[in-house]
Amino acid sequence: MKFFIDTANLDEIAEAQALGVLDGVTTNPSLMAKEGITGEANILAHYQKICEIVDGDVSAEVISTDFEGMVKEGEALAALHPQIVVKLPLIADGIKACKYFSDKGIRTNVTLVFSAGQALLAAKAGATYVSPFLGRLDDISTDGLNLIAEIRQIYDNYAFETQILSASIRHTMHVIDCAKIGSDVMTGPLSSITGLLKHPLTDIGLAKFLEDYKKGNQ
Ligand code: G3P
Repeated sequence: MKFFIDTANLDEIAEAQALGVLDGVTTNPSLMAKEGITGEANILAHYQKICEIVDGDVSAEVISTDFEGMVKEGEALAALHPQIVVKLPLIADGIKACKYFSDKGIRTNVTLVFSAGQALLAAKAGATYVSPFLGRLDDISTDGLNLIAEIRQIYDNYAFETQILSASIRHTMHVIDCAKIGSDVMTGPLSSITGLLKHPLTDIGLAKFLEDYKKGNQ
C-alpha cells in the first residue's frame, strides 16, 4: 500500500519523506488555506516546492466547477511538474474532465467520493486515483471502511486500474484497516504514519537491550 501525506505543510512533508516511506502528497484548497497559501501564483509555487521534497505523486486540486474551467486549470497544473496529478471533484463536469484528461494521458485523482456508485463512475472515466473520504463518513455515523471494501470488490470484479486512495484518514487503525481491505493508497496526516511506529513493548525492549549492553561492556 502506498503512503501519501494529506497536508500542504512543507515541514511535515519533509519529515515523512525523511522517514523513507512516503509515496506522495495530497492537498486540497482547505489544506492550502490552513498553511496561509493564497493567490494563484503562490499556490502554484507551493506545489513546485512540494514536488521538490517528495519523489512521488502530488495531487493538486482545481477550484473550477465547470468543464472548461477544470480543463484550463488542470492543464496548467499538469504542466507545472511531471509529479502533479490533477484532482477533480466528483460532479458531472468533474467526470467529463476526468475522461478528457485520461484520454490525453494526464493523471487524475477524483475526490469527494462518498458512495460506491460515484467510485464506479470515476473508474469508468479513467481516473488514476479515486478518493473515498472514510473519516467524513465515520463522522456522520456511516461505515467508511465498508465503502472502501465495496469499491475494492467492484474494481476487482472488472479489473479497473483506478487506484483506491483512501482519504480522510484520521488515525493508525484506519491505515491498518485500509491495508487489510486492500486499498491501494492511503492519505492521512503525519500522525497517522508516525503513529504506526509506536508500541510500548518496543520501547521497553530497546531500553532493556541497551541496559544489558552497558552492563556487559563496563
Ligand atoms: O484531502 C482530502 C481528505 O483527505 C480530507 O480529509 O480530514 O478533511 O476529512 P479530512
